[in-house]
Amino acid sequence: METRHRFSERETEDYYDAEDVIYRSVWDADGSVHWGVFDTQSGNETGSIREEFLAAGIRLNELMVAAAGIDENSRVLDVGCGNGTTATWLCRASGAQVTGIDLSGVRIANAVESLEKVPELAGRLAFEKASATELPFAAGTFTHVWSQATIYHVPDKVKVLEESYRVLQPGGAMIFDDLTKPRTDISESAQVFVYDRLLFDTDFSFYSYIDALRETGFRVIQARDLSSHLARSYAYLSQLASIAQGPEGYRERFDYLTDAYMKTVDAINNDELGWAQYLCVK
Ligand SMILES: C[S@@+](CC[C@H](N)C(=O)[O-])C[C@H]1O[C@@H](n2cnc3c(N)ncnc32)[C@H](O)[C@@H]1O
Repeated sequence: METRHRFSERETEDYYDAEDVIYRSVWDADGSVHWGVFDTQSGNETGSIREEFLAAGIRLNELMVAAAGIDENSRVLDVGCGNGTTATWLCRASGAQVTGIDLSGVRIANAVESLEKVPELAGRLAFEKASATELPFAAGTFTHVWSQATIYHVPDKVKVLEESYRVLQPGGAMIFDDLTKPRTDISESAQVFVYDRLLFDTDFSFYSYIDALRETGFRVIQARDLSSHLARSYAYLSQLASIAQGPEGYRERFDYLTDAYMKTVDAINNDELGWAQYLCVK
C-alpha cells in the first residue's frame, strides 16, 4: 500500500511545538489532546460541556486499559504522548511502567517538567523526544504499545506499525485509536478544514487499516468504529472554542476553530472522516 507524504514530520513538529497554548485553552488545560467516548446509554451526562468532554476522554482511556489488560506488571510505550497527561494518568491508574515519546520537543519538555509534580510515580514514568518511525528501544522492550490521536499525522504510517511491532515482546499488544478516511472523494471543505488544517492524509479506511495491521504481522483482536463519538467530540470542541479564553490576540483563532470544528462534524457525517480504535497482538 502506498502512503502519502504530503506533509513532513518537520511540519508536524513545528505545528505541535507552536499550538500548545491553543490546545490548552480549548481542549484541556492539563494538556491532553484526544477525543472521547461518550456515555450514550445511561443518560447520566449532566455536567458542563467541559466536564462531559473531559469525562469522555477518560472513558476512552479506561476502555483501552480494560481491552488491552494493562496492569501493574505492564511496560507500556505511549507513542505520541504529547504533554504526557495521559501517560501520567495511565501510570497512576494501572500501576504500569510507562514511557512516552513524542516528536514535539516543546511537549516533551512539558512532560518532563510535569514529572516534578508526581514524585510518587518516580521510576515508573519517563519521557523522551523521538519519532514513532524510529523508536529508540530494543526489540521486545514493551508488553504494550499505546497510542491516541497520533498515527494519522505520520507520513509513513506503515513504518509506525512496524516499529510498534518490533518493540513489543512476543504476545504483546498494541492498542490505539486513529483517524480514518472512509472515502477518497473529499469535498473542498473537508480538505481545507480537516485534512489541511491538521496536516494529514491517510490511505487507511476502517477496513484497510485492519489489512495493514495483519500485513505487519499483528493478529487483530478488536476493531471499533468510533466515528459517532468523534462527531460528538468536535461538536463539544466547537462550543469550547466559542467560549475559550486565551492570551491577547487569540480570539480570532478561537472563532476560526469554532467554525472549523463544526465543519469537521459535517465531514464526519458525510463519511469524509472516521475514527477507529484497534487492539492487536504480536
Ligand atoms: C493530537 S496530539 C495527541 C497527543 C496525546 N496522545 C494525547 O492524547 O494528548 C498528536 C501528537 O502526535 C505527535 N506526533 C506527530 N507525529 C509524530 C511522530 N512522527 N512521532 C511521534 N509523535 C508524533 C504530535 O507532536 C502530538 O503531540
